[in-house]
Amino acid sequence: DVYKRQGSLYARANAMPHGAPRAPDPTMTDFRPAADHLRFDAIPAERLPELLRAMPKAELHMHIEGSLEPELIFALAQRNCVKLPYASVEDLRRAYAFTDLQSFLDIYYAGASVLLYEQDFYDMGRAYLTRAAQDNVVHAEIFFDPQTHTQRGVGMETVINGLYRACRDAEIEQGISSALILSFLRHLSEEDAFATLEAALPLRDRFIGVGLDSSEVGNPPEKFARVFARCRELGLHLVAHAGEEGPPAYIWGALDVLHSERIDHGVQAARDEALMQRLVRDGVPLTVCPLSNLKLCVVSDLAQHNLPQLLEAGLKVTVNSDDPAYFGGYVNENYLQLFAATGMNSQQAWQLAVNSFDASFVTPQQRAHWMRQLEAVFARYAALA
Ligand code: ADE
Ligand code: ZN
Repeated sequence: DVYKRQGSLYARANAMPHGAPRAPDPTMTDFRPAADHLRFDAIPAERLPELLRAMPKAELHMHIEGSLEPELIFALAQRNCVKLPYASVEDLRRAYAFTDLQSFLDIYYAGASVLLYEQDFYDMGRAYLTRAAQDNVVHAEIFFDPQTHTQRGVGMETVINGLYRACRDAEIEQGISSALILSFLRHLSEEDAFATLEAALPLRDRFIGVGLDSSEVGNPPEKFARVFARCRELGLHLVAHAGEEGPPAYIWGALDVLHSERIDHGVQAARDEALMQRLVRDGVPLTVCPLSNLKLCVVSDLAQHNLPQLLEAGLKVTVNSDDPAYFGGYVNENYLQLFAATGMNSQQAWQLAVNSFDASFVTPQQRAHWMRQLEAVFARYAALA
């Protein structure tokens, strides 16, 4: 039964309570690929783009509403009789000239207004997973923003059931694994977040964790301390956007107050040496999104992106697409443009792919399976050289 396959989302939907001791399992093989036998120097630089595309990878930071392509927005608007403030696909695309996070969020929430029925959420989820599979994403942990929809009168079960069914069918039909992370909008109140959690709890087995997104500056992590504490008691995984535009203090808050297991973005950590040491010491993953940072003017030029420095400093950095329909590319485009701009090499590609699996919330067995596939792809490229 494919649903019950070991390591499948549908067999591990009930996460262990946070911090609960896991019984040692002698059959667990926490396989660590041995990078030392891979001859990275034997992989010619001109084959790097092909390798970046071919390597299996996990995507851990993408907002499903940010995968809505303008064509799908218009198709759904027509199907659902929703009036858009844009005359055409081209007109909408022309509006994608962002100056900061808020200028993007205004358009992103307007785009999501076409989503009304379970089938809409299903179609959006399938479209993303199909596209991600083409980039050799083997596992995706996907954010969704329920408040964007429930505020418009869409039912929580409509959102979650549509997305969950998309994840399940994509696993069966395309072999791509995925899981959902419910993200609270930080520009709304903690009370609203609590009500959202309450509404989602009957569907607790359909998402693996919670996140925190939307307008960062002025909405520090401390605002959500109590709702995150409740989610922690419930055994949900915890992640939070921090240090995208906000200061290092917001990353400290995400770690110490929210107990966030990963930091989404986190690029502002480089401004605080003690914070860098803390992130290295605890192996806290950063889910970095290079094209997002470029399009939202967090960096002026990809060549100036600090991802190589963060990686060099020993942080568990990963590469992700954030809102691929808005920022000019899916995850492979993020890898390709970043590597082209910064001159990063195949060993760094390897490290980023390893980190993507390390930072994911999958079982050790599932992680080991993908690490072996990753090693086989790299060995093939080194051998061909
Ligand atoms: N929601 C969607 N994309 C986001 C981002 N990059 N930062 C904060 N909230 C978001
Ligand atoms: Zn994001």
